[in-house]
Parts: sequence; structure tokens; C-alpha cells
Amino acid sequence: MERNLSLCFVLVFLVPFSTLSFVNAEVTNISTDKQALLALKASISDDPSNILANNWSTTTSVCSWTGITCAGRHHRVTALNISNMGLTGTLPPQLGNLSFLATLAIWNNSFYGSLPEELAHLRRLKHLRFNYNRLSGKLPSTLSKCKKLQVLSLSFNYFTGVIPKEIGNLTQLKWMYLGNNKLQGGIPKELGNLAELETLSLKNNSLMGAIPSLIFNLSSLIFMDLSNNSLTDGLPESSFDNLSNLESLHLHDNMLHGKLPSTLSKCKKLQVLFLSFNYFTGVIPKEIGNLTQLKRMYLDNNKLQGAIPKEIGNLTRLEQLDLMHNKLQGEIPCEIGNLHNLQSLDLSLNNLVGLVPTTVFNISTMAQLGVAGNKLRGMILPSNIELPNLEFLYLGLNDFSGHFPTLSPTYPSSPI
Ligand SMILES: *[C@@H]1O[C@H](CO)[C@@H](O)[C@H](O)[C@H]1NC(C)=O
Ligand SMILES: *[C@@H]1O[C@H](CO)[C@@H](O)[C@H](O)[C@H]1NC(C)=O
Ligand SMILES: *[C@@H]1O[C@H](CO)[C@@H](O)[C@H](O)[C@H]1NC(C)=O
Ligand SMILES: *[C@@H]1O[C@H](CO)[C@@H](O)[C@H](O)[C@H]1NC(C)=O
Ligand SMILES: *[C@@H]1O[C@H](CO)[C@@H](O)[C@H](O)[C@H]1NC(C)=O
Ligand SMILES: *[C@@H]1O[C@H](CO)[C@@H](O)[C@H](O)[C@H]1NC(C)=O
Ligand SMILES: *[C@@H]1O[C@H](CO)[C@@H](O)[C@H](O)[C@H]1NC(C)=O
Ligand SMILES: *[C@@H]1O[C@H](CO)[C@@H](O)[C@H](O)[C@H]1NC(C)=O
Ligand SMILES: *[C@@H]1O[C@H](CO)[C@@H](O)[C@H](O)[C@H]1NC(C)=O
Ligand SMILES: *[C@@H]1O[C@H](CO)[C@@H](O)[C@H](O)[C@H]1NC(C)=O
Ligand SMILES: *[C@@H]1O[C@H](CO)[C@@H](O)[C@H](O)[C@H]1NC(C)=O
Ligand SMILES: *[C@@H]1O[C@H](CO)[C@@H](O)[C@H](O)[C@H]1NC(C)=O
Repeated sequence: MERNLSLCFVLVFLVPFSTLSFVNAEVTNISTDKQALLALKASISDDPSNILANNWSTTTSVCSWTGITCAGRHHRVTALNISNMGLTGTLPPQLGNLSFLATLAIWNNSFYGSLPEELAHLRRLKHLRFNYNRLSGKLPSTLSKCKKLQVLSLSFNYFTGVIPKEIGNLTQLKWMYLGNNKLQGGIPKELGNLAELETLSLKNNSLMGAIPSLIFNLSSLIFMDLSNNSLTDGLPESSFDNLSNLESLHLHDNMLHGKLPSTLSKCKKLQVLFLSFNYFTGVIPKEIGNLTQLKRMYLDNNKLQGAIPKEIGNLTRLEQLDLMHNKLQGEIPCEIGNLHNLQSLDLSLNNLVGLVPTTVFNISTMAQLGVAGNKLRGMILPSNIELPNLEFLYLGLNDFSGHFPTLSPTYPSSPI
């Protein structure tokens, strides 16, 4: 009985204690924050506007320093935002002592060197924005200890090595930007655990291998950009079964092959589909006509065959359609004339035959029209064309006949 009571006594006093912050078992306070920020100031070698030099004064409270926000019961530093200041410097390990930090933003500066492992101590961190700097080295797998992270933005730096699979433990992550680095290896399948992820950008790295199928189970994804890597393999037919929230898909400039899955039509909210410069084969699935929100569709520079499906005519919001440099055959479907918002249409360098449907010349929004390098025939242009916004017209390398009509003087001269 007496033992139980004393145990209760100990517990009552332990619980409030656990809300205090420990770094390496030390109790920290606002002085710790100040020391950490002064260490950061000392590691900055160039401060062109002397912002920190003049403002981060040891004689004033850190909470009044520019870029610093203090909050909470303990009145500790919760946000450090020194973005856009033109600073050059390194990131000192003391940053890991800012244990109440929720926002750490140093984007658009010239910080260099590697990420300190000590960042792993920032257990309250939600926003980490280091994009547009000159940081290098490997991404520490211990970043996965910042369990509350929602935004991880490290794009436009010089990071190397692999994407640590432990990032898959950051289950609250909503936005992940690792693009424009020099990351290698495969996309870890563990990223498939990021059930809250809305934005995944890994573009312009040197990533290899197949896109793990688990990535396609991230039904929360709105924006996915894996472009300009060295990704291989095909997209299984079921790939798009669960991506019903996807609005923007960028897989261009890779080495993907195989057929375009017809399940793409399940991405009902898709507005941008960018699959150019891959090795996709087979036909353009007619189900693509169900993607009625599409504004921009680029399937150019693949090896697509067969006819252009007439269902494309259902995509009346389309502004840009590029099917250039494939192996498309048959006639241009007259339904393309239904695309009354089209600004750019490129069907060049295919094996298309027959006439250009006259309806195409009634799309008043059209600024760029290319059909060059096909086997099209007939009158080169109808005499009554209505393309008041036309800037570029590419018709060459076909079997057109007849005279080139006199265009109204409002037409700029353009390469034919
Ligand atoms: C912070 O804690 C240290 C001991 O760890 C103590 O010496 C110092 O006075 C404290 N500072 C404030 C502002 O509480
Ligand atoms: C530092 O800048 C803040 C505004 O960002 C200002 O309120 C404060 O007075 C400045 N402190 C010094 C010492 O210049
Ligand atoms: C940081 O400051 C910049 C302005 O320099 C601002 O645009 C941005 O929203 C702030 N917050 C974060 C998290 O970057
Ligand atoms: C980046 O910071 C510089 C100042 O160093 C500023 O002039 C520029 O507008 C910033 N760029 C962006 C995209 O915010
Ligand atoms: C802060 O961080 C540095 C380096 O990580 C460490 O040596 C120091 O003990 C930490 N603690 C305090 C209270 O400054
Ligand atoms: C973090 O991820 C790794 C590898 O994916 C896993 O082995 C480990 O159990 C995870 N750790 C935690 C704490 O979730
Ligand atoms: C992609 O990265 C390379 C360097 O690896 C860079 O030269 C190029 O400008 C980047 N492309 C874009 C569109 O940012
Ligand atoms: C889609 O979700 C269902 C149900 O959770 C699952 O069985 C299936 O494997 C998922 N498909 C993909 C491609 O992830
Ligand atoms: C796909 O996600 C659902 C939840 O969104 C989950 O129940 C299912 O197990 C996942 N499928 C796979 C193959 O991981
Ligand atoms: C793609 O990556 C290559 C090699 O890293 C680079 O040279 C090129 O500029 C990138 N292209 C784009 C559009 O980013
Ligand atoms: C998609 O389009 C195809 C053919 O155009 C049609 O048969 C099918 O019912 C549509 N599916 C959905 C889910 O709208
Ligand atoms: C889609 O296009 C096909 C063929 O052009 C047409 O028969 C069908 O009615 C269209 N569907 C919708 C929903 O507009």
C-alpha cells in the first residue's frame, strides 16, 4: 500500500516533467536558443545587407531578432526564417539545440556544406525548407526522427547519395521536394507509407530503376513529378487505380516503356499529363477521353502507335496537346475540332494520312499548329480559315497540294 502510494507520487511528478525538453539529457532554455542562433550567426561568412550583423545583437532578446518567432508557454524559439537574405555560410550542429523549433526556413541563400545530423533532435519540426542553396553531402537517414515533419523541401541543392528509406517513417509528411539535386539509386518503396503525401517532387536527379508500385497507392497525392531521371520499366495496368486525387503527373524525360495504362482515366482530377521523352509503346487508350479536366497533355517523343482516339475530342478544356514524334497512324479525328480551348496542337512527325479536318481551322484560340512530317494530303489550307491568334504554323514535309491561300494581313509571317 505504502509502496503503491509512493509510486503514484513519483508518477504525478514525472508526467509534467516529460513535457520539458531534453537535449542530450540537458534541460534547455531560451539561453540555449540564443547560443544556437549565435553559433549560426558565427557560421555565416557573408551577410550582404548586414541584417544579422546589425540586428542579431547579444544585448537584445532573441525573440526580437529579425527572422525569429518565439511562442508557447516557455517562450522559446519556434520559428527561424532567414530566407531570401543572400546569406553565405554553413549550418552549425547547434541548430539541433533549438528544441522548440517548428519552422526552419533558410531557402534562397547560399548555404553550403552538409546537413548536421543534430537536426534529428528537432522533434517538433514541421516545416524544413532548405531549397535553393548550395548544400551537399548525403541526406541523413536520422531526419526520419523529426516525426512531425509535414514539409521537407531540399530541392535545388547539390545533395548526393540515395534517398534514405527511413524517410518513409515520416508519416505526417504532406510536401516532399527533393528535386534538382544529384540523388542516385532507386526510389525507396518505403515512400509508399507516406499516406498523407500530397506533393512528391523528385525531378531532375539521377534516380534509377522502376517506380515502386507502392508509390501508386498514395491516394492523397495531388502532384507527382519524377521527371528527368533514369527511371525504367513499365507502368502496370492497375497503376492509377488509387490516384483519384492526382491533378498533375510529370514522368517525362525518363526511360519508361510499355503501354500507357488505361486506368489513367481514373485520375478524374488530372489537369496536367506530361509523359514526353520516354519509350512508351502501344496505342493511346481511348479511356483518356474521360479525363475531362485535362488542360495540358504531352505524349510527344515516345513510340505510340495506332490511331489518335476520337475520344480526345471530349477533352474540351485542353489548351495544349502534343503528340509529336510518335508512330501514330490513320486520319486525324475530326473530333479534335471540338477542342475549342486549344492553344497549341502538335501532331508533327507521325504517320498520319488523309486530310486535316477543316474543324481544326475553326479553333479561334489556336496559337501554334503543327502537322509537319506526316503523309497528309489535300488542299494545303482551306480558304476560309479562322485562326486569329495563330503565331506558328508548321505544315512542311507532307503531300499537300494547291496554292497557299492569301492570309489576312493580321497573320504574322511564320515558318511553314
Ligand atoms: C538557462 O539554464 C542555465 C543552466 O542550464 C542557467 O544557468 C541559466 O540561468 C538559464 N537561463 C535562463 C534565461 O533561464
Ligand atoms: C531587429 O529587427 C526587428 C524587426 O525585424 C526590430 O523589431 C528590432 O528592433 C531590430 N533590433 C535591432 C537591435 O536592430
Ligand atoms: C519565410 O520568409 C519569406 C520571406 O522572406 C516568406 O515568403 C515565407 O513565407 C516565410 N516562411 C516560410 C516557412 O518560408
Ligand atoms: C532570392 O533572394 C534574393 C535576395 O538575396 C532576392 O533578390 C530574390 O528575389 C529571391 N528570390 C526569390 C525567388 O524569392
Ligand atoms: C548544443 O549543441 C552543441 C553541438 O551539437 C553541444 O555541444 C552543446 O552541448 C549543446 N547544448 C547546449 C545547451 O548548448
Ligand atoms: C524507420 O524505417 C526503417 C526502414 O524503413 C525501419 O526499419 C524502422 O523500423 C523505422 N523506425 C521507426 C522508429 O519507425
Ligand atoms: C537539372 O539539373 C541540371 C544539373 O544537374 C541543371 O543543369 C539543369 O538546369 C536542371 N534543370 C532544370 C529544369 O532545373
Ligand atoms: C489500390 O487500393 C486497393 C485497396 O486498398 C489495394 O488492394 C490495391 O493494391 C491498390 N492498388 C495499387 C496500384 O496500389
Ligand atoms: C494501399 O493503401 C490502402 C490505404 O489507403 C491500404 O489499406 C493498403 O494496404 C495499401 N496497399 C498496399 C499494397 O500497400
Ligand atoms: C535533365 O538532366 C540532365 C542531366 O542531369 C540535364 O543536363 C538537363 O538539363 C536536364 N533537363 C531538364 C529539362 O531539366
Ligand atoms: C471511360 O471511357 C471508356 C471509353 O471511352 C468508357 O467505356 C468507360 O465507361 C469510361 N470509364 C469511366 C470510369 O468513366
Ligand atoms: C466521348 O467521345 C465519344 C466519341 O467521340 C462520344 O461518342 C461520347 O459521347 C463522348 N462522351 C462524352 C461524355 O462526351
